[in-house]
This record gives sequence, structure tokens and C-alpha cells, in this order.
Amino acid sequence: MERTKTGIKGLDEMLHGGLLPQTANLVEGAPGTGKTTLGMQFIYNGIAKYDEPGLILTFEQFPQQYYRDAMAFGWDFRKLEAEGKLKVYMTSPEVTKVDLESVGGMIETMAREMGARRVLVDSLSHFERLTSDPVELRALQYSLINGLKREGLTSILTKETSSLLGETPSDESVAFVVDSYILLRYVEIESAIRKALLVLKLRGSNHDKDIRQFEIGPNGIEIQAKFEGREGIMSGSPHRTMAESFIEAFVKR
Ligand SMILES: Nc1ncnc2c1ncn2[C@@H]1O[C@H](COP(=O)(O)OP(=O)(O)OP(=O)(O)O)[C@@H](O)[C@H]1O
Ligand SMILES: [Mg+2]
Repeated sequence: MERTKTGIKGLDEMLHGGLLPQTANLVEGAPGTGKTTLGMQFIYNGIAKYDEPGLILTFEQFPQQYYRDAMAFGWDFRKLEAEGKLKVYMTSPEVTKVDLESVGGMIETMAREMGARRVLVDSLSHFERLTSDPVELRALQYSLINGLKREGLTSILTKETSSLLGETPSDESVAFVVDSYILLRYVEIESAIRKALLVLKLRGSNHDKDIRQFEIGPNGIEIQAKFEGREGIMSGSPHRTMAESFIEAFVKR
């Protein structure tokens, strides 16, 4: 089956080749877990490795910081924009519901004009600030997601979780609409905080059920070896084992 590769080593393997083309994919995690990094890396790799132009829609308060963060990984977004391979579309966090509908339309127009194949929406949580009505919120999110799919874009949508450790997803409603669901979590292992990633669902395909540790390094997200192989190292430890920590972070409530 054809796949849209994230180009993130380890993650594509977990996804049994990559994301499915023209699908919406949710990346959820606590602040600082690496949602934006993962999304930017997906867009950057799309351009640099797979010749797929990309679009980024962000509600960040400080646009310059976005470019700076990308540059720190060696991803020159301004250059890619100048080459017409990338468009970073910044809307103010104060964007209204009405604006958002036109934003959706604008995204579709821009995607068509530049031949974008990938899009990052950072973040979907922003929508929660626009309405307190859950039905309306869902309608806003669905219409954006469906618009992106209609344009044939493969999207990554980020979503914040407020809790830091050991919490299950707060609001699962979006999880039903999206085609894949990736969780990023902080995990406490032997008095240190590590990061872990889990592919919760991948519609229409099998995927790895392993929880993998990952780090954010100079080149972005680096998925590390399955922790299974390391269990032996941990055994006999008087502290919580890595396995127990992971289970607590992802499963236990
Ligand atoms: N150039 C870098 N090199 C190494 N690590 C970095 C670099 N830039 C960011 N990080 C790490 O990535 C983390 C933030 O990642 P990112 O912004 O992707 O998280 P996020 O989940 O989008 O956070 P938020 O919810 O606040 O938007 C930082 O806490 C830092 O540890
Ligand atoms: Mg972010």
C-alpha cells in the first residue's frame, strides 16, 4: 500500500511504512512533549525527502519563534517559502469562528495554488478557545478536517493535553474522526523524565503497539529502540521498571 512517510526514522516503522495518504492524523501530548517538532519534521521531510510541498497553519502568538525553532533543527523554513515549497500561515490566536471558516477556504486555495500535499495544523486545541459548545466545537473541527481531506492533503493535527504525567486522553471526540492517533507522553523512569510515543490507532492498517522512548535531538525527533529489549537491564532494580512507568503513563488513570 502507498504510504506518506513522515521521514522520522522509527516512526514510519511503527506505522508499518508511514501514514496513509490523504488522511487526518492526530498528535496529542502535554506541553513540550514535541508535537510541534513532530509536525514541522513531517512537513520538512515531505519537502526535502519526498518532494511534497507543505502548508503550516498555526495560531502561535510569536511567528518569529516558529521559524527560529525550525532553524534550530536546520530546517530553513524561510528559504523553503521563498522557493514556493512551503507556506507558513499564521493567524492570530484571536481569530474568530467566522474567520476560521474563511481560513479553511484559504487553506484549500493555497494548497491548490502551491500543489501542497501535506499540512500541519498547530494546534487543534486552539479551536477549544473559540467555543464552549462541544457540538459546535466538533462541527468546527470536522469541517476543517474534511476540507483538508477533500483537497487530498495528508494532515497532522496537534492537540494539547493539560496534564503532564499519566493521564489518558481528555476529550476523545476528535479521535473518532481522525485516521490515526499518536500519543506523546512524559514518563518518569527512575527519577528522570523521559518522553514516550505510542501509535494508538491507524485506520485501515496494522501498526506497532509498542511504546517507544524518543528524544528531541539536533535533527528533531529520534525514536529509540523498543524498551522491551531493555527490560532485562532494568530488572532487579528497586525502582519502578520502565515497563511499569510506561503502563502507568499510558493506561492507568
Ligand atoms: N533544537 C532543539 N534541540 C533539542 N531539543 C529541542 C530543540 N528545540 C526544542 N527542543 C525540545 O523540544 C521541546 C518542545 O518541543 P515542541 O515545541 O515540539 O513541543 P510541543 O508539544 O509543541 O509544546 P507546546 O504544547 O508547548 O506547543 C522542548 O521542551 C525541548 O526539550
Ligand atoms: Mg507546540
